[in-house]
Amino acid sequence: MTTVTASEAAYVVAALLFILSLAGLSQHRTSRSGVVWGIAGMVVALAATVGLASKDITATGLVLIAVATAIGAGIGLWRARVVEMTGMPELIAIMHSLVGLAATFVGWNGYLDVDAELTGSLLGIHHAEVFIGVFIGAVTFTGSVVAYLKLSARIDSRPLTLPGKHVLNIGALVAFVGLTIAFVARPNLGLLIAVTVIALALGAHLVASIGGGDMPVVVSMLNSYSGWAAAASGFLLANNLLIVTGALVGSSGAYLSYIMCKAMNRSFISVIAGGFGTPAAAADDGEHGEHREISAEETAELLRDASSVIITPGYGMAVAQAQYPVAELARKLRERGVEVRFGIHPVAGRLPGHMNVLLAEANVPYDIVLEMDEINDDFAGTSVVLVIGANDTVNPAATDNPASPIAGMPVLHVWEAANVVVFKRSMAAGYAGVQNPLFFRENSQMLFGDAKQRVEDILRSLDALDTPVREMAGTR
Ligand code: TAP
Repeated sequence: MTTVTASEAAYVVAALLFILSLAGLSQHRTSRSGVVWGIAGMVVALAATVGLASKDITATGLVLIAVATAIGAGIGLWRARVVEMTGMPELIAIMHSLVGLAATFVGWNGYLDVDAELTGSLLGIHHAEVFIGVFIGAVTFTGSVVAYLKLSARIDSRPLTLPGKHVLNIGALVAFVGLTIAFVARPNLGLLIAVTVIALALGAHLVASIGGGDMPVVVSMLNSYSGWAAAASGFLLANNLLIVTGALVGSSGAYLSYIMCKAMNRSFISVIAGGFGTPAAAADDGEHGEHREISAEETAELLRDASSVIITPGYGMAVAQAQYPVAELARKLRERGVEVRFGIHPVAGRLPGHMNVLLAEANVPYDIVLEMDEINDDFAGTSVVLVIGANDTVNPAATDNPASPIAGMPVLHVWEAANVVVFKRSMAAGYAGVQNPLFFRENSQMLFGDAKQRVEDILRSLDALDTPVREMAGTR
């Protein structure tokens, strides 16, 4: 078998491994094996690519590839080891920017180094591929950089509203189509520079126009764009695996964006078009009244007398790393015969499945972890809800205040329970920057402080409440 045939066969194996990886990642139980399939696919793909290229590469070229792979792998390992779970979306955004940048470079290279065998319509197709690749790559690059800056709070997460912003976006698309036709007819450097600049500006503007609350969709949308950018590079480099992998990432990212838009009751088209058609919502600065506070001891008493408890975790649980004491609290309460379940909002935390990962890490049984739609009708019959570091995802303004920036976003109906205890450190707003009327409801009480410390305090108080019972039982 020639090197080419062996490498092409390896590409098919790698593509199958990537499909297995996606299938594995679609469920909690199989997600670890999904990661292993993905790693295996990437190792096969890299080895096959080097094998395929080796027939045309000098020894120096091979050494350069080895050095570049070692540096890239080193940086990847280092970042993956040090990143906090809460910093994952930023990391993913900056990774996407690299895919976009690489696709832009591949496109430029496709213009500077044209295969002499290409003539006639094939040459025209090649130049169209160059233009499309550069366009998608550059949009992905700046879009991801702006997403990174917003997610890491280096710039304001509020939507940028330039006058005529939709006209600007549509104008950029029309210019792209016109320039592509001109470039295919008469390729020249000026047009390539023009499309690169337009795409860089469009990517930055599209993401800057999207508000903080919609950032989860933006991250998965950029994931999708990075896939299409890779597929475009695959066409230019005549690399089948890059086309297949790019299409897998592109379509799964688009589907994830669609699911998240549905979960947040947002229009998919509106989000991918940079907030197109979204009315500018007014911030809610109104008076809400007084909030009430509760201590850890009082919360323990409330839980001791409860028959059913629902825990709704959010970003604050991740910040506090409170999942272990929370899991311990759930276990203790269940031992006492209390029905304990977890209610998970689809965008709780800062990345899809964030809460599920944390709870799985702390060995919370999967069967008591329910999605929002599965549990939302059960709050009304629940004795106590513990809102642990969640805010936007339990905000009743989303359902009853049409002027709220998060109006229409489905939320967990925690306020329908008999008692709600909210764990957070202050009265500060959540990620979307909106005040939460839940904190001022009659059945809500605030338990201030770091979520991990407060849950540990409750565990100690529960033990203390148990002690006299056991001692009395022992003296009888
Ligand atoms: P958020 O609305 O972000 O609120 C989290 C709350 O946790 C804050 O109000 C904060 O209040 C509290 N907190 C922070 N550190 C804490 C600690 N150590 N102990 C106790 N509390 C702490 O949370 P959420 O309900 O999970 O909503 C997620 C938001 O992020 C949504 O707006 C969503 O659209 C957005 N988002 C989600 C994603 C994905 S994919 N999930 C990605 C990007 C953005 P204090 O400061 O007062 O403590």
